[in-house]
Amino acid sequence: MMCRVFRSSLLAWLMLGLIVPSEGVNATESAKDCPWQDSSVCTCSANQAICYARGPRIPKPSNNLTQIDSLSISGYRLIEIGDDDLPPNLKKIEVKSLSFAYFSSNALRKSLKTLERFSVWSLNLTELPGSLREVEGLEGLELRHARIKTWNRNLTRHLGRTIKNLTLNVPLDKWPEWITDFVQLETLLLRTPHFEVPPDAFDHVQNTLKKLEFDGQFFYRYDFYPGPFVLPMFPEAVTKLQSLEMLSLERFNLSTVPDVGATFAGFGNTLHTLYLRACDLSVTPNLLLLSKLTKLRLSFNNLLNFRTDILPPTLQFIKCVRCHLIDIPDFSHFKNLTELSLDFNDFSTIRSTVFQGLENLKTLSLTKNKITSIENGTFLDTSSLDTLALSGNSLSHLPEAMAEAKSIQLLQMFGNFFTCSCISQDLNSWIRSIDTVRASVKICQEDNPDIVSFWRSDASLCRDDDPIVG
Ligand SMILES: *[C@@H]1O[C@H](CO)[C@@H](O)[C@H](O)[C@H]1NC(C)=O
Ligand SMILES: *[C@@H]1O[C@H](CO)[C@@H](O)[C@H](O)[C@H]1NC(C)=O
Ligand SMILES: *[C@@H]1O[C@H](CO)[C@@H](O)[C@H](O)[C@H]1NC(C)=O
Ligand SMILES: *[C@@H]1O[C@H](CO)[C@@H](O)[C@H](O)[C@H]1NC(C)=O
Ligand SMILES: *[C@@H]1O[C@H](CO)[C@@H](O)[C@H](O)[C@H]1NC(C)=O
Ligand SMILES: *[C@@H]1O[C@H](CO)[C@@H](O)[C@H](O)[C@H]1NC(C)=O
Ligand SMILES: *[C@@H]1O[C@H](CO)[C@@H](O)[C@H](O)[C@H]1NC(C)=O
Repeated sequence: MMCRVFRSSLLAWLMLGLIVPSEGVNATESAKDCPWQDSSVCTCSANQAICYARGPRIPKPSNNLTQIDSLSISGYRLIEIGDDDLPPNLKKIEVKSLSFAYFSSNALRKSLKTLERFSVWSLNLTELPGSLREVEGLEGLELRHARIKTWNRNLTRHLGRTIKNLTLNVPLDKWPEWITDFVQLETLLLRTPHFEVPPDAFDHVQNTLKKLEFDGQFFYRYDFYPGPFVLPMFPEAVTKLQSLEMLSLERFNLSTVPDVGATFAGFGNTLHTLYLRACDLSVTPNLLLLSKLTKLRLSFNNLLNFRTDILPPTLQFIKCVRCHLIDIPDFSHFKNLTELSLDFNDFSTIRSTVFQGLENLKTLSLTKNKITSIENGTFLDTSSLDTLALSGNSLSHLPEAMAEAKSIQLLQMFGNFFTCSCISQDLNSWIRSIDTVRASVKICQEDNPDIVSFWRSDASLCRDDDPIVG
């Protein structure tokens, strides 16, 4: 029984995926104590206030009653935060507005002793807010999209004594010397254009820095800086770090590094996360020396021959999206693997042995490949698998092997070219066992082959004389 071949839209799935319950603000609970009475401007919940400015400033708070210590302000017209615009004793401030430009010099005076985290997203901020000068114990500073050109060394020295987390998404044009003022850094995230990193760049935080991320991609959306997209050399300075736990090197050309694995050998006892995205790798790095590694991303490299035997068995999370894989390698020795993502590759068959013994695997994402078949036996061992994404493949029907995946809660199957077909008793009871909410299996209804149903209960069972499709 053949009927219309259909194609559904990946977009629809994406849209559905966006409708997730947010960690909603319970505005009613403590509204009377909210420093702002106008709930169309600010809403409060527990110790948090969220404000949306309609004009260039937010209104001054109308009482001091609350325990608000975390404040988030947005609004695309917001330009300025004035002297009395903030309630006292804040620990955390976040300002998100592309036009935001000024923090008045006394804006933070009621939170000098309490402020721990300061975060600004703004295209128009051109210098570090001077009001940070008297803040006593700031630990986190996040500057995103800010076009800061001049860095006041008095201020960076003052901040550098306490700041542990620094996020810079600013148009630097060379390695910032003032970074040596930040002597306590534990986390450094550089979303800046790429430039040469001096060999002594991290000497002052050799023993403190735990997390280092170079993320070369973000800025290009804003066209500020026409720097090199891929930096030609490996930043040797990194190898001197003594207690690095997380390293992300994005868009560094590692194709000329003879032994990428050996380069990281010094982090053998500390590194748990390594991201080498878009690094022009064409051979899998041998990372067996990284005995603590649990998370690995190698996406956007040319790993046609992806070797899993030279990756540490400790891995729990592996991502190789758009790695040009034409064959799915064997993952069976990663006994603790919980999440595997191989989206946007080119393999067509899933052999029954590749996930053998992976009892901890929870999420398997294989969207946008060319999968036409999944061998029987593939999911016999994956007893924890609850999310399986197979959208955008070339499956013409539900493979029988799916019935083995008994723990599945969420199945994404959009964007395959399904031929309507009947299904076996096994497959039918399997579909019925899946959580309905986001299941998206499509099977034709027997009595009306032109109707393609989203609902598992509409799947039609094979009659005795129907061939069973595997
Ligand atoms: C809040 O308290 C400050 C002193 O800490 C006082 O100057 C201000 O007037 C008070 N604001 C309101 C609206 O009560
Ligand atoms: C930034 O400020 C300039 C001058 O103050 C203004 O013309 C421009 O519109 C602002 N940019 C944004 C994105 O608001
Ligand atoms: C600093 O970063 C760590 C890890 O990224 C995070 O858990 C912590 O909340 C951050 N602290 C501040 C003050 O930003
Ligand atoms: C930095 O501090 C020194 C001494 O306290 C002072 O002389 C100098 O003017 C300050 N520089 C800036 C740019 O604020
Ligand atoms: C990386 O470097 C090699 C050798 O210099 C070069 O052939 C290649 O094009 C570079 N890759 C990128 C993405 O720039
Ligand atoms: C897997 O996890 C268990 C429990 O955390 C641990 O004892 C074991 O060493 C891990 N195995 C590997 C290969 O990392
Ligand atoms: C796979 O299993 C199904 C159901 O158990 C069976 O009908 C089918 O013939 C099997 N396919 C292969 C290739 O062994």
